[in-house]
Amino acid sequence: MLSSRRFSLLVILITLVTAAAPNPLPNNTSPPYNLSTPLIIDTFTNPQHNALGFWHGGLEGLTMEYGHNYVHLYPKDPDHNYNTQLSPATCFNLLPYRTTHYLHVHFNGSTKFSVSLSQNNVHCDSFRSPFPETWDSVEASRYARGNDIYIPLWHFYVDHSRAVSVSFNGFYSSEPVTLHRVEIVSASSVPRGFPVPPRVDNGRVLLRCSRPGAFAFGIDDGQPRFAQDVMQILEEEQVLVTFFVVGMGLRDLETNFSNVYGEMLRRGHQVALHSDTHRKLEGLESVEAIDQEIVENIKSFRQILGIETRYFRPPYGTLGARTRQRLANYIKDPQIINWSVDIEDWLWADSKTPEKQREAFVRDVTRGGNLAVMHFLSPTTVHLFREVIRFVKSMNATIMRIDQCLEDPQSPPLKLPQS
Ligand SMILES: *[C@@H]1O[C@H](CO)[C@@H](O)[C@H](O)[C@H]1NC(C)=O
Ligand SMILES: *[C@@H]1O[C@H](CO)[C@@H](O)[C@H](O)[C@H]1NC(C)=O
Ligand SMILES: *[C@@H]1O[C@H](CO)[C@@H](O)[C@H](O)[C@H]1NC(C)=O
Ligand SMILES: *[C@@H]1O[C@H](CO)[C@@H](O)[C@H](O)[C@H]1NC(C)=O
Ligand SMILES: *[C@@H]1O[C@H](CO)[C@@H](O)[C@H](O)[C@H]1NC(C)=O
Ligand SMILES: *[C@@H]1O[C@H](CO)[C@@H](O)[C@H](O)[C@H]1NC(C)=O
Ligand SMILES: [Zn+2]
Repeated sequence: MLSSRRFSLLVILITLVTAAAPNPLPNNTSPPYNLSTPLIIDTFTNPQHNALGFWHGGLEGLTMEYGHNYVHLYPKDPDHNYNTQLSPATCFNLLPYRTTHYLHVHFNGSTKFSVSLSQNNVHCDSFRSPFPETWDSVEASRYARGNDIYIPLWHFYVDHSRAVSVSFNGFYSSEPVTLHRVEIVSASSVPRGFPVPPRVDNGRVLLRCSRPGAFAFGIDDGQPRFAQDVMQILEEEQVLVTFFVVGMGLRDLETNFSNVYGEMLRRGHQVALHSDTHRKLEGLESVEAIDQEIVENIKSFRQILGIETRYFRPPYGTLGARTRQRLANYIKDPQIINWSVDIEDWLWADSKTPEKQREAFVRDVTRGGNLAVMHFLSPTTVHLFREVIRFVKSMNATIMRIDQCLEDPQSPPLKLPQS
């Protein structure tokens, strides 16, 4: 995973916008809402803010061009994201609309992307981690006819009382998209005969542990030469973690990973899916290519480790509607694991200031994060590992596997106490 700065950037931008412009809002945007009037979110008349007066813009380096009442998007990467906020990064209550209303997007161009609705954390606070807490997304291509998209709001499995933004992401083509209008309308505004597809199952995206006082390490990838060190640290610190492992590395005898992860399993750690060849799955053009990444990973786990798991972490944290749906096609109720604590080894491990990893870790824990991402690819990260484990212990959190921290009834019982 190499991308995770998008929302901290977002936070900065939101702060700038809200600080600079206390916006006089049009009256139909403050509660109580008039449910028979469209809730117009964005008409792209102003590059700085949307029709609600809140921030909108591109993230992760998306190229855009604003025109008269539209924005052109030129996506080049599945992580590119165009975000339009329902609130100044607090919580917007969409519950009154949930069962009766539709998200309407008037657009032109490619339909090879996802449309997402994000949910804020319980604090409704963008400075807490995770922000957002989760999100659900659908494939634009399934809901588009001509130049319109109508998505029933209930198709998004999020807590609608804590909606925070609508976004366009998961691009799997570099064909441009033009957005003209984003709004929430009642069922009676959907053109007669407009075909609305059934909802397709997809997995839930989790960025935090639900068990009170729990903390989990999700460790992805790794250099074979550090594996024994990592194992020893975990043994000495008496903690269990979750490893996200790619199929290809497991099959490669030179890595010794089949033995390493076999032993990790015997010691009680969790081993979970991380694709077959570590590509950005959502960016793959064909569904068959996504399928192969999932199926081969599952097959290697079965053949080499003799295990099955519902847990998956997308390489690079890259995710969209198609990957989620394909996971749900092969795995019943997949648990898609992101993170709320990022040690930022991808940024600092091999820099001149590797100690920034400690700062990043502490910062995210202080903001309330309790599910970490890290790798054992660099000696500097492995060197810090014991220290961050002890830091978590000093905060009186209990370290456990991700399935345990999510209170999965199928997870092994906790082994307590820890010192
Ligand atoms: C994963 O979490 C990070 C940090 O909260 C966030 O920046 C990133 O967008 C998330 N990705 C997904 C797929 O949820
Ligand atoms: C909104 O409505 C209230 C009372 O109905 C009024 O006092 C206020 O000026 C209105 N605000 C705007 C921005 O129109
Ligand atoms: C809500 O909007 C409709 C349509 O614009 C209007 O006829 C109605 O009077 C509004 N209701 C309230 C309570 O403002
Ligand atoms: C809409 O798409 C068509 C076909 O790609 C293009 O010719 C037209 O200029 C586009 N219109 C706008 C407003 O972007
Ligand atoms: C391979 O991993 C196993 C299990 O951890 C370990 O016992 C063994 O020493 C490793 N072999 C090599 C060559 O590193
Ligand atoms: C952790 O628990 C100990 C003993 O109960 C207490 O002294 C300490 O203040 C707690 N630390 C935190 C960070 O809550
Ligand atoms: Zn990875």
